Amino acid sequence: MSDIYDKVIELAKRRGFVWPSAEVYGAVAGFIDYGPLGAMMKRRIEAIWRHYYVIREGYYEIECPTVGTESIYVASGHVKGFADKMCQCPHCNEYFRADHLAEACGIHNAGILSKEDLAKAVAPARCPACDEVFGDVEVFDFNLMFQTTIGPGSQRRGYLRPETAQGMFTDFSRLSRFYRMKLPFGAVQIGKSYRNEISPRQGMIRLREFTQAEAEIFVNPSEKNHPNFSRYADYTVDLWGIEQEQKDLPAIKKTMRQAVDEGIIANEYIAYYLALTHELLVTIGIDPARMRFRQHLPDERAHYAIDCWDAEVLSDRFGWVETVGIADRTDYDLRAHSKESGDSMTVFVPFAEARKEKRLRIVADMGTLGPKYRGKAKKIADALAEAAPGPDGADVVVDGETYHIPGDLYTVSEEEVEVRGVEVRPHVIEPSYGIDRMIYGVLEHAYDEEMVEGEERRVMHFAPCVAPVQVAVFPLVNKDGLDSVAREIAIDLQDGGILADYDDNGAIGRRYRRQDEIGTPFAVTIDYETKEKGTVTLRDRDSMEQVRLPIADVHATLMSLVSGRTRFADLKQA
Ligand code: GAP
Repeated sequence: MSDIYDKVIELAKRRGFVWPSAEVYGAVAGFIDYGPLGAMMKRRIEAIWRHYYVIREGYYEIECPTVGTESIYVASGHVKGFADKMCQCPHCNEYFRADHLAEACGIHNAGILSKEDLAKAVAPARCPACDEVFGDVEVFDFNLMFQTTIGPGSQRRGYLRPETAQGMFTDFSRLSRFYRMKLPFGAVQIGKSYRNEISPRQGMIRLREFTQAEAEIFVNPSEKNHPNFSRYADYTVDLWGIEQEQKDLPAIKKTMRQAVDEGIIANEYIAYYLALTHELLVTIGIDPARMRFRQHLPDERAHYAIDCWDAEVLSDRFGWVETVGIADRTDYDLRAHSKESGDSMTVFVPFAEARKEKRLRIVADMGTLGPKYRGKAKKIADALAEAAPGPDGADVVVDGETYHIPGDLYTVSEEEVEVRGVEVRPHVIEPSYGIDRMIYGVLEHAYDEEMVEGEERRVMHFAPCVAPVQVAVFPLVNKDGLDSVAREIAIDLQDGGILADYDDNGAIGRRYRRQDEIGTPFAVTIDYETKEKGTVTLRDRDSMEQVRLPIADVHATLMSLVSGRTRFADLKQA
């Protein structure tokens, strides 16, 4: 095993990107702090995500509490089914995820195995903690939600949200009014989610508190063509579809148009967000050669989902890491919340032209219905007017109770009505991103070490748009007024919105190395020519080449370089 992971984490801790939370009290696995540079980088990555989803796609961001009442998670199925299969070592009492143990024994996709099969798979394995052979172990379910109570002395149960998605579902009716009932529409949320992971041992990859960026896009079930599909129709990504996975074949390259037409990807919406995700991950610095899209196998996919793909990022230590999930969840979530809450969770979709339709209308015979159902009779009569007659009567639900009304208590007449549209329960397309995993991927893929003039250079090749410090400003020497010019330039850049780090400490070569290690993409050096000609040098981190620029051009040039509109090579040619 190579030591890239250890080197990346050592650098990340030492230089202020990320470290274990509350180390002074003995850190607890699954909780991390972002340090000064890591927090900055996280904000930049979130801003890029917002650029794609909020500004470009037009899905507004909402912000919901991280604590939810029990009914939300009863409806969503998390109370009953959000569990991992766990076992306990009979020798050292340590807990493990049984599917992870089975996968370490070479079983592919062990998450779909039953508890009994997992127990059999784990039995001959050695405990990673005490190295004893497990032998007979019981595999049992462990619900991953953190539970709490709401209010002092209250018995009202609450949960820390295990995903941000539920907020978009519970707000569906208000959102649909905000969007003037016009499908498709979407809402997004970036925020903390919580899962009480069983013995997380994968650093930033498996956390108990982590940040998700999720979009819930509500679409008409009969219109699954994305209105802007042409944007990505010719976009190519590596697809590791069901066939490739089952036959252990390499990923295939397809355009999104081909993948939909050949039935590999279920619809244009899924294909569109696969391509957008690819573009977004490449933009923040994930190496496209170390990224693929893996389709969920039918027995791995939730029963209600039509199609589901994971963007996987290759890590030196952890192999392929699921970083983004993109799923067509059908109407499962809205149906579940509608059933639990009583809210219809539908949208009225008007027809292009009103239609005349023949309908059977039930008219209650109040003379017999009244005495039989007394206080409920009026409500039953109203419900009957909307119900369809069956061969031996009609069923209606009033105040949560179902009543079977025999045919002799009403008459049925046929009438022609004008129908203007139909109530539709939208399907949900969900791209769900794990921000912490994205950041880990960016750190690992950016890490590099090379020998320069007999010395090791450690460099983080961050994309300029995510680098925490965007430019370093150095006076060549700390005298003859070079330092005051450098300070002025740094202040001008900061006033103009660029994070510029002024550094006059030590030899210039050392200063470059310090900035290379934190991935600062550019450095401006003020030297004696600056005083004579009013120009500075601009150094590119990756090529280590330099160009001279007039001071007056520094801000605009850096803005253009950081946004990606200009590349350093373009400046060399100019
Ligand atoms: N709403 C769908 C959902 O939550 P998920 O696959 O469970 O789907 C989405 O999570 C993403 O959240 C994952 O692809 C991953 O990047 C991230 N994620 C999930 N669990 C995580 C954990 N314990 N630590 C860090 N990131 C996690």
